[in-house]
Amino acid sequence: MSEASVGRVRESVQALAAYRPGKSAKQAEAEHGIADAIKLASNENPYEPVPSVVAAVQAAASGVNRYADHRALALREQLGSWLGLSADQIAVGCGSVGLLQQLCLTYIDPGDEVVYPWPSFEAYPINVKMMGGVPVLVDLVDHAFDLDAVAAAVTDNTKIVMLATPNNPTGTALSTSEIRSFLDQISGDVIVLIDEAYREFTDPALGDPVVDLVPDYRNVIVSRTLSKAYGLAGLRVGYAVADPDVVLELDKVLLAFAVNGLAQAGALAALGALDEIQPKIDLILAERERVIAALGAQGWSLPDAQANFVYIPIGSATEDIAVALEQRGVVIRPFPGAGIRVTIGTIEENDRFLNALDEVASPAATG
Ligand SMILES: Cc1ncc(COP(=O)(O)O)c(C=O)c1O
Repeated sequence: MSEASVGRVRESVQALAAYRPGKSAKQAEAEHGIADAIKLASNENPYEPVPSVVAAVQAAASGVNRYADHRALALREQLGSWLGLSADQIAVGCGSVGLLQQLCLTYIDPGDEVVYPWPSFEAYPINVKMMGGVPVLVDLVDHAFDLDAVAAAVTDNTKIVMLATPNNPTGTALSTSEIRSFLDQISGDVIVLIDEAYREFTDPALGDPVVDLVPDYRNVIVSRTLSKAYGLAGLRVGYAVADPDVVLELDKVLLAFAVNGLAQAGALAALGALDEIQPKIDLILAERERVIAALGAQGWSLPDAQANFVYIPIGSATEDIAVALEQRGVVIRPFPGAGIRVTIGTIEENDRFLNALDEVASPAATG
């Protein structure tokens, strides 16, 4: 135990590295002595919420002397009617990362194995290890998931498989027919999390796990969020679609009032304003295609980008290039030794990134 520990910290917590959020534009400005930095590091939506969402959150503010509805039933019902499901098939959480924590609290005893492809979402190892679970990592192949290898890694000790589709950070996605073949290879006792934080940016031809898989597989949990496409990252609202028995268990470990009153009001308003929000999603998608084409013209070859970011495999020069971009006021997410993940921003932000990258790096120089 380090000298700094106070009390008897659980070994599994002591061993954890804290979650690293993306660097803010302000931090980068202070570090490099620059102004006007932009943040393309956390896969946020660059557009402010639509006015009806802002108004709903403002109106809810006068009620914050009261606790909100712990189970956010109105929100579950609205999500259910939107998705053609009943409210008892829907869990809500403090962001989809809150649901990830609930999932780990519900299923993982110390020593249980959790299988996931890697690299993937950085919150997976934290939440698994927090419970004393054992991560079993399966290498990506060409930046994408090898589901046969994932199936081969599942043993009698496996409690959960975590599949982020599209994957963060590589952006590649699975089709529901690929996931179905995978599900048919593993025991129905193993929970399979299909983490669709970026679903709204994904090619619809890949299918919809809620429609294609949930009715047939009681062990499937699909998690989604209002943080990304719906632009409510700061409010913290995620939801999961699952068998009602699974939802009952997840609800037992829902932190009291985790989806607060402002979050519930904002989420309900966003679901009522989908027609206004969709054009913003379309703009992000159009920009993603423009950024991919521009990067191609610079000579970069990228994995398939199915989310609101692109992943550029840069290799050993990654950290140097990330610093050089930051010095030019463009904050992206580096994965040391591997590549950079760059969120699709506004048109102006994307231009700044493209120009800065062209200045500081070339595919030929990075090999
Ligand atoms: C794959 C994946 N899942 C889940 C999340 C969590 O999002 P939130 O907790 O804001 O819903 C993220 C956020 O970056 C993500 O990349």
